[in-house]
Amino acid sequence: MKAFVALTGLFSLLQLSHAADVAAPKFSVNLDAPPSERWTESVTYMISTYGFDHSYQNVLDYVYSYLPPPVVQKLEPLLLDLLREFPGEAGEEIKGIHQTITDLGYGDQISLGELTAINLMYEFTVFCTSIVAENSAGELFHGRNLDYSISGLQNLTAQIDFTRAGETVYKGTEFVGYVGLLTGMRPGGWSVSVDQRATYDFANATKKDSLSGLVENLVSAATGGSTLGMFLRNTLETETSFADAVDKLKKEKLIAPVYLTVAGTDHLEGAVITRNRLRPDQSHREGVWSLTEDDHFRLVTNYDHWDDVPEDDNRRDPANDCMNQYDFESLSLTGSIYDCLSTAPVLNKGTVYTTLMNPKQDIFETTIRNQNE
Ligand SMILES: *[C@@H]1O[C@H](CO)[C@@H](O)[C@H](O)[C@H]1NC(C)=O
Ligand SMILES: *[C@@H]1O[C@H](CO)[C@@H](O)[C@H](O)[C@H]1NC(C)=O
Repeated sequence: MKAFVALTGLFSLLQLSHAADVAAPKFSVNLDAPPSERWTESVTYMISTYGFDHSYQNVLDYVYSYLPPPVVQKLEPLLLDLLREFPGEAGEEIKGIHQTITDLGYGDQISLGELTAINLMYEFTVFCTSIVAENSAGELFHGRNLDYSISGLQNLTAQIDFTRAGETVYKGTEFVGYVGLLTGMRPGGWSVSVDQRATYDFANATKKDSLSGLVENLVSAATGGSTLGMFLRNTLETETSFADAVDKLKKEKLIAPVYLTVAGTDHLEGAVITRNRLRPDQSHREGVWSLTEDDHFRLVTNYDHWDDVPEDDNRRDPANDCMNQYDFESLSLTGSIYDCLSTAPVLNKGTVYTTLMNPKQDIFETTIRNQNE
C-alpha cells in the first residue's frame, strides 16, 4: 500500500512537473560589452539545457514550412546583405549569437542567413492578450500573454535585464536569438507589449498571407527600416517617461499595423494604441484608447476595440468578463491580472509566456506556460 501511495504520488508529481508553468530563466545583457558577446550566456544556456533540436530546430522547422531549405539557401546572400543594413548594433548581436551557436558545435545546422530570417519573421501569427489597469490606490499594472504558432518557443524564452554600468536600463521577455523586444519595461518609467493587428482573416490565413508578411519585412529591412522588435527595444533605451514613449510609439513609421499597450507610473497613464503603419488609426477617434476616471482597465487581443471579435477567436469577451469581476479596489497584478490571463481561452495551447509588469515598483515577472504538454 505504501509503495502504491508513493508510486501514485510520484506519478502525479511527474505529471505536475510536466505540465507546470515555470518562471522564465533570467539573464543580463551588458550593453557596455561588445555586441558580439552580449548573448553568449543565454544562448549557451538554451542549447545546453534543451538541446539544439528542442530549441533552435523548432524555429527552423517553422521557417522551412514556409521557405524550403533550397529557397533559404538561395536567399542567403540577400539575407547577409540585409544583416549589414540592420540599425544600430542589432546586426553585430546576431552575428555574435551565430558565433556562439557555432562554438557550441551547431553552426552547420543553422546559417547566419537563417538566423537573420528568424529575426525578420516575428509577427505572422502572434495572438496575444494585453491588459493595462489602475486600481483605486493609483497603482498601474500591465500584463500580457504572448501566444505563438511556433511550437517549442518555451525553450527559447528568457527574461533579460539590459544593463549599463551595472544598472538595469530596461527589461524584456525575449526569445533568445531574436534581438528585438515584443514585451519590455523601463523601471521607473513605462512598459510596453505588442499584439498583432489582423490585416487578414486569421482563421483563414494562408501560407501566402504569412509569406507576404515576411516579404514586407524584408523590403522594409532592405530600405533601412527596423523591425518592430528592434524599434521597441530602441524606444525602451531612449525614452524615459510614459508621455515621451507614447509620443514616439504614435509617430514612428512601423512595418505593420499593431496594437501597442503601454503603462506608466502615474494616474491614468495607461493606453492601447491602435497603429497603422504611419500613425494611430483615428477612424473611431480612439487610436489612443486611454484609461479614464471611469475605465479602470483597457484590454486588447488581436482586433480593433471598436469592432466585434470573430466568434472563432473570442478571447476578448472572456478576458473582459474576468476583469469585470474585480472591483476598482481589488485590481492587482498577481490577483486579477494574472487570474484573467490564466483563464481559458485567454490562456490557450499557443500561450508561450505571461509577463506581469509594474514600472513604478520595478516588477517584471515572466512565467513560461505549458498548456500543450
Ligand atoms: C523543451 O526541451 C525539452 C528537453 O530538451 C523537451 O523535452 C521539450 O519537449 C521541449 N519543449 C518544447 C515546448 O518543445
Ligand atoms: C473561411 O473561409 C470560408 C470560405 O470563404 C468560409 O466559409 C469560412 O466561414 C471561413 N472561416 C472562418 C473561420 O472565418
